[in-house]
Amino acid sequence: MAQNIYDDPKFFAGYSQLPRQVHGLKGAPEWNAIKAMLPPLEGKRVADLGCGFGWASRWMRQQGAASVMGYDLSEKMIGRARADTDDEAIHYRIADLDRLELPVDSFDLVYSALAFHYVADFDRLVGMMHRALTLGGALVFTIEHPIFMAASQPDWIEDEQGRKIWPVNGYSIEGERRTNWFVDGVLKYHRTMGTTLNTLIRQGFQIDRIEEFAPTTAQISENPGLAEELERPMMLLVSAHTT
Ligand SMILES: C[S@@+](CC[C@H](N)C(=O)[O-])C[C@H]1O[C@@H](n2cnc3c(N)ncnc32)[C@H](O)[C@@H]1O
Repeated sequence: MAQNIYDDPKFFAGYSQLPRQVHGLKGAPEWNAIKAMLPPLEGKRVADLGCGFGWASRWMRQQGAASVMGYDLSEKMIGRARADTDDEAIHYRIADLDRLELPVDSFDLVYSALAFHYVADFDRLVGMMHRALTLGGALVFTIEHPIFMAASQPDWIEDEQGRKIWPVNGYSIEGERRTNWFVDGVLKYHRTMGTTLNTLIRQGFQIDRIEEFAPTTAQISENPGLAEELERPMMLLVSAHTT
């Protein structure tokens, strides 16, 4: 049974105040990198998995997507998405990605931002997405980077020279990680880079591009706090298509 931490009132209140939720896609530093990995959207049938407030679902339609189905486990996230969307070609559904079965051959693009690291059975999910996509259909997703996820206590350490170090331990021990983010005990699932990419390959995807997001110099000048993102990758961005 998935955790559904986004429906926890304290978590939801904190999460809703993040720049990426207050300002939408422009508040997400990796958004330009994601955009460059997306296929042309004109006429596409899109599934947005873990759609949250629906920022990307609405943007896809503005780019000409024929329809968008947004799925999310959290009633509060879906409630906000529905309230903020006025578009008959966007539909939101409450669904657990560990159980969701999309109809076969029914989407041209499956998109997901920062949701798959909450999914226990990635192999099942990838197989299901492959069946749901048409031949040549695209999968574009982001997750927390395995280097960011691996540690038992994922937080900066300062060494004797004052350098910021991100700990990586237990890298090859895959599975549950509990972290404290707005509330204690947020459950995520760590998988190595090899497992993540090999799962896609085994299920019949061809990988097109991998980005280990790092901010540009211009982004850092505008927002100096982003400089620490150069120390280790926090997000992994993947684009692939079915063969
Ligand atoms: C970090 S938020 C990202 C939301 C949105 N994609 C965005 O970029 O703004 C992660 C989302 O995944 C959803 N989620 C977590 N576990 C899930 C699961 N098992 N099934 C479906 N959605 C899930 C959460 O409710 C939350 O809305």
